[in-house]
Amino acid sequence: MILDIKTFPDEVLRKKNEPVSVVDDSVKKLLDDMVDTMRSAKGVGLAAPQVGVNKRVIIVDISAGEDPDSLMRIINPEILELSGEPDVNEEGCLSVPGEYEVVARPSKAVIKYLKENGSEEIVKADGFLARALQHEIDHLNGVLFIDRLSMSKRETVKKRIRKRISIGDYVAGRG
Ligand code: NI
Repeated sequence: MILDIKTFPDEVLRKKNEPVSVVDDSVKKLLDDMVDTMRSAKGVGLAAPQVGVNKRVIIVDISAGEDPDSLMRIINPEILELSGEPDVNEEGCLSVPGEYEVVARPSKAVIKYLKENGSEEIVKADGFLARALQHEIDHLNGVLFIDRLSMSKRETVKKRIRKRISIGDYVAGRG
């Protein structure tokens, strides 16, 4: 089922997200719906608060649907380590549609998470996957990529969004 994607400045994107204590059918359904929603929006990642659910659940598919093996369904992720040269690249977000800005992030990330069968998994990511995972985990902490811009850049982006809202051009799902 395709869910509505909440967009900045919706407060749900800033709320505290609770860890999942039991991986039950409702969590699996949430993950299924998040996959449908991400695919429909042609995204490479999605976090539960973006569909209005304040739980520590994310999905990432850096192939954007091209490679079935690339989809990661992630519960209660924790960053164990960030390292490497800063990777400086353009980033976007389905909750900040149509805005793309350069964000520097560590190029390597080690993430621990729970799989749906309850087993613990550790992934060592680099490059675009490391970026995507950090971006989605940021969402679980109420952080958007625009928060990582310089103050002046962030104000420029917010001003542009306000203007786009006023003319009805700020539409979720346009990536
Ligand atoms: Ni995002």
